Amino acid sequence: MLGYKTKTDNPYLQDNYAPVPEQIKATDLEVVGQIPHDLTGLFVRNGPNPMNNPRPARYHWFAGQGMLHGVRLEAGKALWYRNQSVKGNGTTPNTHVIPHGGKIYAIVEAGGAPVEIDQNLKSLSDAPFQGTLNKGFTAHAKLDAATGELHGVCYDFARGYRLQHIVVGSDDRVRQSRVIDLPGKPMVHDCAITENYVLVFDLSITFSWRRLVRGYFPMAWNDKHQARIGLLNRKNASAETKWFDIDPCYIFHPVNAFEDAAGNVILDAMRYQRLFDEDRNGPFTESLPLLTRWQLDIAKGTAGEQQLDDKAAEFPRIHPGLEGQAHRFGYALGLGESAVKPQFSSIIKYDFTRNNSEVYELGTDKMGAEPVFVPADQAESEDQGYLLSYVFDRRDDKSSLLIVNAQDMAAGAVAEIKLPQRVPFGFHGSWVPAH
Ligand SMILES: [Fe+2]
Repeated sequence: MLGYKTKTDNPYLQDNYAPVPEQIKATDLEVVGQIPHDLTGLFVRNGPNPMNNPRPARYHWFAGQGMLHGVRLEAGKALWYRNQSVKGNGTTPNTHVIPHGGKIYAIVEAGGAPVEIDQNLKSLSDAPFQGTLNKGFTAHAKLDAATGELHGVCYDFARGYRLQHIVVGSDDRVRQSRVIDLPGKPMVHDCAITENYVLVFDLSITFSWRRLVRGYFPMAWNDKHQARIGLLNRKNASAETKWFDIDPCYIFHPVNAFEDAAGNVILDAMRYQRLFDEDRNGPFTESLPLLTRWQLDIAKGTAGEQQLDDKAAEFPRIHPGLEGQAHRFGYALGLGESAVKPQFSSIIKYDFTRNNSEVYELGTDKMGAEPVFVPADQAESEDQGYLLSYVFDRRDDKSSLLIVNAQDMAAGAVAEIKLPQRVPFGFHGSWVPAH
């Protein structure tokens, strides 16, 4: 039951990458187990779901029209599941969906503006942040829990190929846009914050005109581009950005960054050795991402690098209140061992203090998605809460929403909410509390 017949072998249009053709709502959902009563709100995830019959040879996973899949939970009940295409002018945000300032926004890297959506996943407007954003945004913005500000490193194509640091205040208005001067044209997917800095990832994938004019996704591996991490001073706009050269690599997603007692910056992220080189349709086939720690020595201007775990993993998450502060725990989707076809076969919990990890295997024929950590009500420790992930079951070609106790993964899922259709593999989502 694939959505499209393809003439060539594009894996990102097949299997559970294939789009679903219908937009549906279902209210009578079967639940196995008990949904925790403190999970009252909306779980929503974004991802590509092309409805325009793309040409397989040139279709890139990152380019498909966005679709949201949401489940509304309330006091131990699953009220509904629905899926809705994201509708905006031009590009439709397909990468993430985040709550901010009482609103919900579907967001994407590059030129497309965030699209505000309502609690029922309907697209409302693409004049985000009360009309104060007049350019593109990013697929990932970091919330500083101390100030309520969102920080993003965003492209600014209005002035050539430039990057900007954009800050959106807790009042849902753009408060600051600052140009980041760069000599090259790096692909920048995400950022990280610490108390004093914004981390800018100027890495080994750069914009390629050659690919763009031939109709391909325009970002490609570039051996000639020096990979480096920049520390942009958040508090002093006139301070020069500090740059740290690192070995060639790419990072889509940091777990988190923070400053240690000596004021040096620690970055944990999923590191790719190579991608978008031979493969023009998506990530994963040239190298698999591994959890890696960089230590940026401010006084010496040098970066140390250390692999922390040997299990391929992506879509890392932490406690939502700890962006930019020291974290003990992190969570990610385990990709399994196949270098050619990631299996998305487990949820991994990392304990950075004990330097170990625990694996929750999803089971035969089951493939997961980004595990979103939701703190329990009145949590007394960092990992007291739940991991929410859509899980595709190959046996019945359907998906479910899995809820796992983050402190007791070994006990198995506390609840599994069966959905009436499959949720294609996608990107990122959020928990939007009802109150
Ligand atoms: Fe991402």
